[in-house]
Amino acid sequence: MKQKRPLTKIELASVPRTVTLLGATGSIGSSTADLLRRNRSGYRIEAVTAHRDARALARLARDLSARFAAVADPSAYSELKAELAGSGIEAAGGPASVVEAAQRPAEWVMAAITGAASLAPTLAAAERGATVALANKECLVCAGALFMRRAAAKGATVLPVDSEHNAIFQALSAGRREDVARVVLTASGGPFRTWPLEAIRKVTVEQALNHPTWSMGPKVTIDSATLMNKGLELIEARFLFALTPDELDVVVHPQSIIHGLVEFRDGSVIAQLGSPDMRIPISHCLAWPVRMDTPAPRLDLARVSTLTFEEPDLVRFPALAIARRALAAGGAAPTILNAANEVAVREFVAQRLAFCGIAALVEATLDAMERRGETSEPQSVEEALAIDHNTRRLAADLLPEIAAMTS
Ligand SMILES: NC(=O)c1ccc[n+]([C@@H]2O[C@H](COP(=O)([O-])OP(=O)(O)OC[C@H]3O[C@@H](n4cnc5c(N)ncnc54)[C@H](OP(=O)(O)O)[C@@H]3O)[C@@H](O)[C@H]2O)c1
Repeated sequence: MKQKRPLTKIELASVPRTVTLLGATGSIGSSTADLLRRNRSGYRIEAVTAHRDARALARLARDLSARFAAVADPSAYSELKAELAGSGIEAAGGPASVVEAAQRPAEWVMAAITGAASLAPTLAAAERGATVALANKECLVCAGALFMRRAAAKGATVLPVDSEHNAIFQALSAGRREDVARVVLTASGGPFRTWPLEAIRKVTVEQALNHPTWSMGPKVTIDSATLMNKGLELIEARFLFALTPDELDVVVHPQSIIHGLVEFRDGSVIAQLGSPDMRIPISHCLAWPVRMDTPAPRLDLARVSTLTFEEPDLVRFPALAIARRALAAGGAAPTILNAANEVAVREFVAQRLAFCGIAALVEATLDAMERRGETSEPQSVEEALAIDHNTRRLAADLLPEIAAMTS
């Protein structure tokens, strides 16, 4: 009897794929769900998760005919269970249930939980060799070397969803890795790009949440306003593409049309362009290695007319310089940077810290952790989470002083 040959990647792309959405109720989760709704026959949904928005999660789970739905916050479980009554969809609650969702047998997992809370479930998906579409950047910043090492050991495929990294992923296919001279991430510059320092100091939460080109969740929107987002992305790129800090650069490009560039040794620069719509990079990962249709607006360069570029201003936006320092230092510094920034953003949103206090609190926390000698790179998830935990406590201790200094 003739032996059946394994399906090629292209053939695999034509059979329904099983997918799980971690962080399904957020901005990236909703954009992914939109693409799935438009391609119902191409995908079967295994699991969807949220933090505590049980009603939105139940609606999505029913709409996508998911098999399993989990909320990380145990207090939201009873609402989820009630909302899913009679649907045949299994409901679960608590952080372990989100990890369970990631462990269930989906070939493709969207990692779109905000913050370091994404680390355990995303790693769980990678550990079973799934294709992980990585939107969350904090888990690579928190434990990048560890995450990429485990993913490689288990044969997982990590596809970058972040628009800049997805652009670089696409541009890198134009040449050999050893011929890459430099990788450049573009930054919109955020809503305060042209503001004087004095005005930036007085920025309100509402102003910081109003991004000029992208529509995103609150944490990443605030990170974009401080330019910390670009710093986190530099660290993300370092681990995703195994680059050195010297090979990485940032240029401010307010129109957000060019998302990333790769310069090769012969001077050729390959860029990826597209409208600022996250459904483009998400679809690239969802259909990979082929392409799918998306409703994203087509790029009309004649209408865009002008593309401009400038150097980032590290005086008005010190968060990027602090992130570069953590990138160069390596070890525990990126983990500390990420945790301190999560605390600082939360405190800014709660109006207990001024906008300029975000970078100040992160820098003070990094300095203090360095003085304590907490500088070694985490070798396990437990170590990464312990550094994360210690940093958060230290940042909370430093908060009153920094808040008073920067108010
Ligand atoms: N939005 C973008 O355009 C964009 C672009 C590039 C990269 N990213 C990255 O993608 C990630 C998601 O961003 P987003 O803008 O989609 O965020 P978002 O709109 O705030 O959504 C976050 C999602 O994660 C869930 N979640 C939050 N905290 C959680 C926890 N502790 N445990 C379990 N689930 C939790 C939320 O559930 P609830 O709804 O119940 O709160 C929600 O489903 C971030 O890391 C961000 O940096 C986003």
